[in-house]
Amino acid sequence: MTREEALDSIKANVENGNLIKHMLATEAIMRALAKRLGGDEEEWGLTGLLHDIDVELTEGDMDSHSKLGADLAKELGASEVMANAILCHNPTHGIPSETTLDKALFCGDPLTGLIIAAALVRPDKKLAGVEARSVRKRFKEKSFAAGANREQISQCSEIGLELDEFIELSLEAMKGIAADLGL
Ligand SMILES: [Fe+2]
Repeated sequence: MTREEALDSIKANVENGNLIKHMLATEAIMRALAKRLGGDEEEWGLTGLLHDIDVELTEGDMDSHSKLGADLAKELGASEVMANAILCHNPTHGIPSETTLDKALFCGDPLTGLIIAAALVRPDKKLAGVEARSVRKRFKEKSFAAGANREQISQCSEIGLELDEFIELSLEAMKGIAADLGL
């Protein structure tokens, strides 16, 4: 599967532009994590890119979310390893994360929301001026971007990263695609 094929399929299955941006942000973080942890950049990136492809199709049915996504990814040519990471990123299924790829997607997914919110509260609404320490501060404010699950983000310890490094690396990765994110 090429990245273009993955994107075409996303565009065919997802209408919400913000959801697509979330998937692009997750891809960027996953590529940076692969680089840092010795994973396959393309494999990790495409897993991040595709992970929520079924969100609109499953219409809020958490029992189906990510099962359908894993199937769609496999149809596109994703490996079992990639499909499993997509499957277990939805905690509803109770499937434990086992591989580093599973764990990276699990903690990287919610961090995108926290970083995007940190950009949106700025007067210029741009990522460029967001500093890692301000994201770290926001992390501690439970009511800020409350949907960004702090416990899940904290599981970066499972892939051997301190929260500070995880935030810094992810923020830089997202800054690298700021134009695509409209931020
Ligand atoms: Fe997600």
